[in-house]
Amino acid sequence: MIPFIDLKQQYQALKPQIQERINRVLDHGQYIMGPEVREMEARLEHFTEAKHCISVSSGTEALLISLMALGIKPGDEVITTPFTFVATAEVIVLLGAVPVYVDIEADTCNIDVSKIEAAITPRTRAIMPVSLYGQPADMDEINAIAARHPNITVIEDAAQSFGAVYKGRKSCNLSTIGCTSFFPSKPLGCYGDGGAIFTSDDAIAQACREIRVHGQSKRYVHTRVGVGGRMDTLQCAVVLAKLERFEQEIATRLALGARFNALLNEKVEAVTQRSDRTSVFGQYTVLVDDREAVQAALKEAGIPTAVHYPVPLHLQPAYVESSRVVGELSVSEAVAARVMSLPFSPELDSTTQDVIANALVEAVHA
Ligand SMILES: Cc1ncc(COP(=O)(O)O)c(C=O)c1O
Repeated sequence: MIPFIDLKQQYQALKPQIQERINRVLDHGQYIMGPEVREMEARLEHFTEAKHCISVSSGTEALLISLMALGIKPGDEVITTPFTFVATAEVIVLLGAVPVYVDIEADTCNIDVSKIEAAITPRTRAIMPVSLYGQPADMDEINAIAARHPNITVIEDAAQSFGAVYKGRKSCNLSTIGCTSFFPSKPLGCYGDGGAIFTSDDAIAQACREIRVHGQSKRYVHTRVGVGGRMDTLQCAVVLAKLERFEQEIATRLALGARFNALLNEKVEAVTQRSDRTSVFGQYTVLVDDREAVQAALKEAGIPTAVHYPVPLHLQPAYVESSRVVGELSVSEAVAARVMSLPFSPELDSTTQDVIANALVEAVHA
């Protein structure tokens, strides 16, 4: 079976650096908020050009802490996409606020910006686009909509898009707040859970830093209600080691994505990339009819596939009651029935990529 994501091979390539970084932490023993935490944050500030990076225990926690820092409270509304991983809406509902879903674009699968304005009410406090499959949403347009209304902050859910570029700027630094995940399979992954919040707003950064340590402004002074949301020093050490070849991995991701596009061109429909931005291909995703049959044929050929995501959030049992839907979400529903992600990681070689593309074309046209 071809691996869906080849993390073992990546580890082999970086073994000495990763082991050295981990051993350093074991030697100094500062497992919580050790020096690697700030070192990683500083490196990521430099990479994204955001003024502040606040590392946290996961991508989900990054979104939750961001909303808490904005003071999102019960009854507030947050406009987002229904076609995303559940964490995007989960954190909104956890705070008693209401996810308000608008439909997506059929070709990029990102939020349809033309539908956002109609969803705004006096209760709207934030817009949370998702940069799905590694490609930033149309952030400038979204920022412009937010700017026309008082009290609406834009949070990019960049869990899948760390390293992507939009109009010359890095994902995570495209709006007031950007949140990412270092889940192992993400473009920049650690070896467990991890995440980060990016902002250039000093007050939001300070609030996020306090909230991640139980709302503490000084030791045992709890200025606000917070969470236990720190990222482990060991996980930061892994990210630091992986950063050594991250730029190279991004370049490889772009080349492999373009190569898949060329191999499948006019034979299999794939998610589209806009010309003013890059995708880091957190997933390489195609759209097929009769998905189950195509998946079965590929599995038979030793090619694993995955579905991100089979059911849009407005149809998920836990979210039917707690969300608000604006207009038809027919594109999300249609796309959810057709998307299928292929094996993809910077370790994918061109021979394997050819095998995958040929098997897919054959299965789609069987
Ligand atoms: C779009 C999106 N948002 C949020 C998350 C949550 O990140 P984590 O798994 O690190 O909590 C993910 C992770 O899969 C994601 O894909």
